This record gives sequence, structure tokens and C-alpha cells, in this order.
Amino acid sequence: MAFKKDSVMGTMVFIISLSLVCSFMITGTAEILKERKLVKKRDEVQQFVLKAAGIANSSVDFRELFATRVQPKLVDLETGEYIAQENILDFDGRMAAINPETSRKPKKDTAKIKSRADQVRIFEVFDAEGKLTSIVMPIYGKGLWSMMYGYLAVEPDLNTIKNIVFYEHGETPGIADFVTDPAWTSLWQGKQLFDAKGKIAIKVIKGGAKAGDVHGVDGVSGATRTGVGIQKAVEFWFGVEGYQTFLHRFAKAEEK
Ligand SMILES: Cc1cc2nc3c(=O)[nH]c(=O)nc-3n(C[C@H](O)[C@H](O)[C@H](O)COP(=O)(O)O)c2cc1C
Repeated sequence: MAFKKDSVMGTMVFIISLSLVCSFMITGTAEILKERKLVKKRDEVQQFVLKAAGIANSSVDFRELFATRVQPKLVDLETGEYIAQENILDFDGRMAAINPETSRKPKKDTAKIKSRADQVRIFEVFDAEGKLTSIVMPIYGKGLWSMMYGYLAVEPDLNTIKNIVFYEHGETPGIADFVTDPAWTSLWQGKQLFDAKGKIAIKVIKGGAKAGDVHGVDGVSGATRTGVGIQKAVEFWFGVEGYQTFLHRFAKAEEK
């Protein structure tokens, strides 16, 4: 049907066509950005898990290293059982923790997280021969000002700390930089999470831990509250409302 460009009909057709083109462009861009964001998130998770496991290696592509040495698993914290799930790297733990249908209020909220996801993603890490070398587990909790997010890697004895890393926090720069300083996080390496009775015993100690204290990590003077926040986060996540049931199940399965 022919119509004049400067007629009402022509103007309408022009406006509708322009709106359609713009909406396609916006939708397309949003989809591309969404995929890029997912890839970035996946990469960050892989890099920090490798760092926590102590196997980050600049000469090997991290995605390849992750694919060959790490098995992500989804754990139900109530039962300690694995949940079958595809694309675990895309599991959104933060969303799961705030959705009332997939989370619960902790009875004793030592980490001050307000709600805890029912299912959490953990990472089993193996050496080149396929032997388990560590389990990397997410931890988070409140410091003085902010929620601090990180991973704690535990050795196959499920007690000795292999490493602790933090990838996000909003504590004061210059005062609480120790959170991501390897000189401080390395103090956790080799420390024991639990005492002989199986009670969580890890402590950040103001003034410094005594020589030979297997549960004590030096606190940083002038920033004790951030350090205590980290201790409380570890206490929470390795306690009854965190990984304890899973760890007991895992230990039993390993015995068989
Ligand atoms: C502006 C400002 C920012 C601070 N930021 C932190 C912080 O990020 N983490 C922290 O533990 N303490 C921080 N502090 C210090 C705490 O208020 C508190 O004095 C300290 O944690 C106690 O540690 P101490 O017992 O080792 O002195 C800050 C203090 C001020 C004035």
C-alpha cells in the first residue's frame, strides 16, 4: 500500500519501525551483557577457588586447570548430601541466600548473615593423580562495616586449614587491608579448625597467638573487630548451621 512519507500514516509507520529497531537493539545488548557477566563471574569463581586451593598457576590456563582438577558440588546443608545439579558454576549462592524459599534464618547467627541458603556450592580439589588435596568452601560474615566474602580450603583430614582467601569486603582501606594480604592469610595455613572433642576452636587472638597454638591466628592491632568478624564467620560456616553435617557425612563416606 502506497502512502505519503509526510502523511499521518507515514509518520506512524516511521515511529513504529524506529521503536521496533530500538527495542531489538536494547534486548540484544542486554542479552550479550548478561552472557558476558556470567562468563566474568564464572572466571572469578574459578580463579579464587584455585587460589584458595593453593594451585593457581600463571603458566597454565586457569579454566583448563579448574576443569581438570576441581569438581564443584552442590551440598544440602541440612542433610549434608550432594544435590544433583547442572552448571554448578552458575549457581547464584547470594540469590539463594536471600530467597525465603531457598534459605532459612540461622538460629545462632554468629556471622551476622541474617539468612543462610539451604544449598551451598563447594569445590573438591584433586592433584594430577586424582587424589583429593582439599575441599574449598565459601564463607562469609560481617566485619566491622561490611559483609566479607571468601573461601576457606580444608585439607582431606577435614580439620587442617589449607588456605583462606577473601574476594570482596568493604572494611576500611589502610586499616583492614590485612583481609586480603597473603602475609596475614598465610597465618591461617596449617591451623586446626576443631579441638580434640570436635568443637570449633579457631580463634583470632588480639595481641597475637602463642607459639605452638594450633587454633590461634594473630589479630591485627587497631583492627581487631574485622579479625573477630572473620573468626565468627569461620565459626558459623564450620558449625552446626554450616558445613558440620556435610563434613561428618564426607568423613564417613571416605572411611568406606
Ligand atoms: C574511621 C575508622 C575506621 C575504622 N575501620 C576499622 C575496620 O575496618 N576494621 C576494624 O577492625 N577496626 C576499624 N576501626 C577501629 C575500630 O573502631 C576498633 O577500634 C578496632 O577494631 C579495635 O581493635 P583493637 O582492639 O586492636 O584496637 C576503625 C576506626 C575508625 C576511627
